[in-house]
Amino acid sequence: MITITKASIQSWDRFYRANFINSLSGFKSVCLIGTKSNDGIPNLAIFSNIVHLGADPAMIGFINRPKAAAPDTIRNIEETGVYTMNHIHPGIIEQAHQTSAKYDASVNEFEAVGLDMLWREDCIAPFVKDSHIQYQLSLSEIIPIPSNGTFLVTGYIESVYLEKDDREADGFLPLEKYQSITSLGIDGYYLAERVMRLAYARP
Ligand SMILES: Cc1cc2nc3c(=O)[nH]c(=O)nc-3n(C[C@H](O)[C@H](O)[C@H](O)COP(=O)(O)O)c2cc1C
Repeated sequence: MITITKASIQSWDRFYRANFINSLSGFKSVCLIGTKSNDGIPNLAIFSNIVHLGADPAMIGFINRPKAAAPDTIRNIEETGVYTMNHIHPGIIEQAHQTSAKYDASVNEFEAVGLDMLWREDCIAPFVKDSHIQYQLSLSEIIPIPSNGTFLVTGYIESVYLEKDDREADGFLPLEKYQSITSLGIDGYYLAERVMRLAYARP
């Protein structure tokens, strides 16, 4: 066993530390978040710190870095209360990754990275047209995390769009059939393979 202490983590080069710590919490639910500003500028950014909060009401949360580092998505969500999440498949990984670049707020990142927008009635935020699984959210809360200046953004799922119907009989959504990728660290992208599904565990 290799032992790594808090003191040695703190002594590391910041990029090495970021890569290591970002990998430690596991494979992530990476998605593209689409928003539109009050000025009408569409925005797209990749996020992987996404978490299921509950199924009734259906809620999803994500962590936004401090506003100085990642200002646009969270500002647009605060302004409009609406956003979309769009799964990523192998054909769009490079474009998706490129949305992490710090584009000016005046830049439409869909156009900058070469992904088409999809607009749906009753949703002022754009979807990623080529994404196989897309869903629309409405803002619930933006909860500051004072320890490190990040925010937990929570939202209600308003609608879900599947490229094809591969749902299993009990509602389970086998993401591998949609080629949804998962991410590790800040730049590793993987395809997933199911090992097994098990029955509900009882004592
Ligand atoms: C794979 C990957 C995952 C990321 N996950 C997050 C995340 O969960 N939260 C976050 O704030 N930034 C995350 N980022 C960084 C944002 O994509 C980046 O800060 C982006 O510029 C934010 O754009 P915005 O200002 O349009 O919101 C991630 C970047 C990559 C490459």
